[in-house]
Amino acid sequence: EKQGFAHYMLKEIYEQPRAVASAIEPHVNPETFSVALKNVGFGGVSVQKLDELDSKADWAKTQEMFKGIERVFIIACGTSFYAGLIGKYLFEQLARIPVEVDIASEFRYRNPVIPPKTLVMTISQSGETADTLAAIRMAKEMGATTLSVCNVRNSTIDREAHGHLYMNSGPEIGVASTKAFTSTLAVLNCIAIALGRTRGALDEKTEAELVKSIMAVPSQMEGVLAFDKYFEEAASGLKLFRGFLYMGRGTSYPIAMEGALKLKELAYMHAEGYAAGEMKHGPLALIDERMAIVMVAPTDHLYEKTISNLEEARARGGKIISIGTGDNEKLRAISEYYLAMPKAHWTTHALLSVIPLQLMSYHLACSLGYDVDQPRNLAKSVTVE
Ligand code: M6R
Repeated sequence: EKQGFAHYMLKEIYEQPRAVASAIEPHVNPETFSVALKNVGFGGVSVQKLDELDSKADWAKTQEMFKGIERVFIIACGTSFYAGLIGKYLFEQLARIPVEVDIASEFRYRNPVIPPKTLVMTISQSGETADTLAAIRMAKEMGATTLSVCNVRNSTIDREAHGHLYMNSGPEIGVASTKAFTSTLAVLNCIAIALGRTRGALDEKTEAELVKSIMAVPSQMEGVLAFDKYFEEAASGLKLFRGFLYMGRGTSYPIAMEGALKLKELAYMHAEGYAAGEMKHGPLALIDERMAIVMVAPTDHLYEKTISNLEEARARGGKIISIGTGDNEKLRAISEYYLAMPKAHWTTHALLSVIPLQLMSYHLACSLGYDVDQPRNLAKSVTVE
């Protein structure tokens, strides 16, 4: 049921505040502002029996596992892969554990080295993606402990994994993944905090700050959804661009790639996602006045560097669409379109900045007359490689 929305995708974009709240709800304690992952099931129990576990004993098992690992691999495809890339920033910063992120179809055929004490984590909304499934099976055969983050409970990947976590976003019908992505980022925040605390990399005070930041996301998202109307109007101007170059640094780099993927799959327009620091190493040559530069530039420790990239792009004639923090006069002045995000901790900024990018692709596709829920050539669940 579309519940009055024109498309499932739009409905799912609007469901994100609720989806994120449901994703974190089992794991965060809103009184103590602490995290304990709920019924992950590392002891070896069927997916159907997870709810029956003794939560305290289960959390102790998860913590024991977290203490024993030396590295994490995150394996996924498409949008779930981009979520995994953000996971790397979170896990490395908050838990000081090395993380490798891989596209499932590359990982499975590379004969990868999986040393002992590796946790292999897969991310899959559907839990049925053929390459991700093959990757988790291979990792198990090679002796790794596996943890799956799925949306569909009891899906094939979910059943295959040793440990289980859920996006809890409710059914996602639109082929373009939206709420499953932000819910995954919420779960990854919880895992990173849990890992960091268990491994002694985070103190109680920082944990509380991080929990408060993730708990604030649903209400912050409500404000960001107002860009729906903005892009409904801006779409007719935006569709005249020849191409879109999305850029960002830190967690905004995977967001740039996710934004570009959304535009490709929905509006069939050429888009690339780049680390802003790479601009001078090639993509700068693409820029002229028919090129839109989508820059994700929150006010963080990388802001000044991002701004200088933006100025260079503008000097080449590129038209700027920027996403920044609050009422940023400087960004507003150099941008054709400026989108203000609420102030957020770096660990949660990505959950907000992706929303205008989802809405922009949605409205561009609508104004071009494309089928947003079922883009050409694509399937919701890629069960063959
Ligand atoms: O179900 P999964 O999360 O494993 O799916 C992975 C990709 O096929 C999926 O994210 C795809 O890239 C989406 N259509 C992107 O919007």
